[in-house]
This record gives sequence, structure tokens and C-alpha cells, in this order.
Amino acid sequence: MTDSSRKKVLLGVTGGVAAYKSAELVRLLVRSGIEVQVVMTSAACGFITPATLQALSGNPVFTDMWDARIANNMAHIDLTRDKAAIVVAPATADFMAKLANGLADDLLSTLCLARECPLLVAPAMNRQMWDNPATRRNAAQLERDGLTLLGPASGDQACGETGMGRMLEAQEIADATIAFLAPKLLKGARVLITAGPTFEAIDAVRGITNRSSGKMGYAVARAALGAGAKVALISGPVSLSAPAGVDITHIETAAQMFEAVKKQVANADIFISVAAVADYQVDQPREHKVKKSDEAQLSLQLVPNPDILGWVAARPKPPFCVGFAAESRNLDTYAEQKRRRKNIPLMVANLAQHAIGADDNEVMLLDDTGTHQLDRAPKDVVAQQIIAHIAKLYDSTKKRKAKP
Ligand code: CTP
Repeated sequence: MTDSSRKKVLLGVTGGVAAYKSAELVRLLVRSGIEVQVVMTSAACGFITPATLQALSGNPVFTDMWDARIANNMAHIDLTRDKAAIVVAPATADFMAKLANGLADDLLSTLCLARECPLLVAPAMNRQMWDNPATRRNAAQLERDGLTLLGPASGDQACGETGMGRMLEAQEIADATIAFLAPKLLKGARVLITAGPTFEAIDAVRGITNRSSGKMGYAVARAALGAGAKVALISGPVSLSAPAGVDITHIETAAQMFEAVKKQVANADIFISVAAVADYQVDQPREHKVKKSDEAQLSLQLVPNPDILGWVAARPKPPFCVGFAAESRNLDTYAEQKRRRKNIPLMVANLAQHAIGADDNEVMLLDDTGTHQLDRAPKDVVAQQIIAHIAKLYDSTKKRKAKP
């Protein structure tokens, strides 16, 4: 992605303990391809230093209206004109009160008042402050003014109390921001995604699985959600939390994944099969743990699992099907053979040794027009590019079908 095509966000940080989460938020936004400009209030600088956020964003941090780095001394105008959105996280009760009343007595509040772009606000405060009628009034006013409130959440608070007012986690704010900014290329489309590994039991405690982390499938789910799709995700065992807004089904075995897909596929316009499905399962797994014996060798009898993607693609009226081919060599040849064998319009091919478990990925897209190589990038960025390509092909398929 070139620099000029990167979306730019201004992150405002105000003075609350949750400011420690802003560092992670900057990192996540930058990893997803967004350029971040941080502006802090002076109270925020008491919780986290500008140096940390400068290092993570790669941009100088602004804290003061009178900053000589801005040539015309109009920081409150210049810093926002090229931004796709302002995100204030954390937003204290005091800062929300300022926004609700149009006060502008420091750089962040002034540039919020002078902005032309959307404003997203992630409140963070003690539960009594959140419940206070003044804050309730201010929050309602902000929504009436067209701002988007992200949270707050309920839970343990820094003050030792428990209740509503905690800032959302950095990942949740990043997901919401990315979704807010993404072009709505799949608006209204119903997308079914499989992700992660499967686990095929050998006995009560052991099983056969693979190294898939689920990161790519979950990134595709986030990108589809951001593109305006209604997303259902069928996930094998992973240590990731489902993106907010996704309808999640947890499964363990390939057979369970197949059952879940069979149940849901009739409601899908697009099926994206990212899961690393085991091709075989153990014939008659033992109910109890197999004990060590004196036998020198122990054999496992394996029987094939159904090819889920192949089955979906062979339905009378299949959804638009996308496969993921993980190969360890001859990437384009093997992936194209697989695409033709499964009879699907799009195959995403990656080298297993580069992709599995990693945060980055480098993929090749194979469709009827040929091969499209994407640059190596964080999985969220790659997922957004895959979704954009799917949207283009899906649209032209729909148009073709609509022709008399
Ligand atoms: N897939 C599936 N069901 C299976 C095996 C694979 O739905 N039982 C899907 C995967 O989710 C992926 C695509 O098929 O989208 C290709 O998976 P891959 O494991 O690379 O290919 P296989 O068809 O299993 O071929 P091989 O293992 O021989 O490379």
C-alpha cells in the first residue's frame, strides 16, 4: 500500500488511567495500515509519555495549541484536515463534558470543535462518574450530535470498584475504528467463514491437529465485517476472541465443522474457507486414555474427512466460494490445480511455512483472469485486500447472473 493511500486517523488521548491502553491501540491501528497522529491533553501526559506514542505512531505527538512545528500556528485546523476520523481514547468525563458543550480550551478540544471529519469517542471513567446524570446527559448529547460512542464496558476498574465505565480493550477500539473507515464493499452480503485448525481425537486426551492459529481467518472476518457484511464464523480451537458483531460457532472436529457449514450455508452469499481442515480423522477414537504398552509400535487407522469446500462448491446454487491453499512448494501450480479441482472462482494461496502462526502473510490470488500477487503485510491488511478482491468478483458475478 502506498503512503498516499493510507487512511489517516487522529488519536486524542485524555487524562485517565486507561491511557496505558492507547499505546497498544496505536500499535494495532498502525499494523492495520492506518497512519496515526497522536494529540494528548496535558493531563494525559501525566499517565503516559508523548515519547512512547511518538515511537509507536512514527509521528511527532502534539500537546499544545502554540506549537512552533506548525508553520501557520493553526494546529487545531492543520492536524485534522487530512484525517478520515478523530478517535478520542480514553475520553474522560471532563472531556466528554467539553465536547457536549462545545468548549475549546486546549488543542484536543479545539480541534474536535473545528473538525470536518467524524469523531469516535471511547469513554473511560469510574462507574459513579459514568452513572452521574451530568455524564448521562453529555453522552446522550454527543450521540445526538452525531458522534459515535465506543463503549464503555463493564468490569473491574482501576479504582478497585466494579461497574460500567471501563474503556473497551485496545483491540475492540481498533476493530471498531477499522470497520468504521472501511469502504462498505460488501454491504448487505452474508458471509460465512471457517477459520483455525480442526482437532481430531485419538483418545480422551490426545488428538491430531495442525499449526493453524486462526489469525488469518479472524482477520478476514474483521475485514468482511468492516466492509459491511453480515458475518458468521465457524472456528476451530484457537486462542483468539471473536470480533464483536460476528455470529460465532465453535467446533473441534472436521465433522463438526461440516455439520455447522451444512446448517448455515443456505444463508450465505459468500463462503470463505480459511480453516486448515484435517483431511483425515482417527477411525474409532478411544473413549479412554490409551495406556502405554510394551508394544514397540502403535498404529492409528485414519479415514478421510469430507472436503467441506468441495461439497459447498458442488451444491446446485453455491455461494461465491473462496478457498485458501497452504502449500509448502510449487505454490501457484498446486493452488491453481486445487482451484480447478474444487471448481471455485477464487483461491488464495500462501506458503504454509510463511503463513502459519505468523502475524504477517504474503498471498497470491488466483482467479479466472490469472494470478495476482499481494505484498507481504500484516494479516489485517492482507485480509482487507482479499475482501476488496472478493467484492469485485462477487459484484461482477451478480451482474452476470442478473443479465437476462
Ligand atoms: N478444505 C475443506 N475441507 C477439507 C480440506 C480442505 O474445506 N477436508 C478447504 C480448506 O479450508 C481450504 C481448501 O480446502 O480452503 C484447500 O485446503 P488444503 O488443505 O490446502 O487442500 P486440500 O484440498 O486438503 O489438499 P492437500 O491437503 O492435498 O493439499
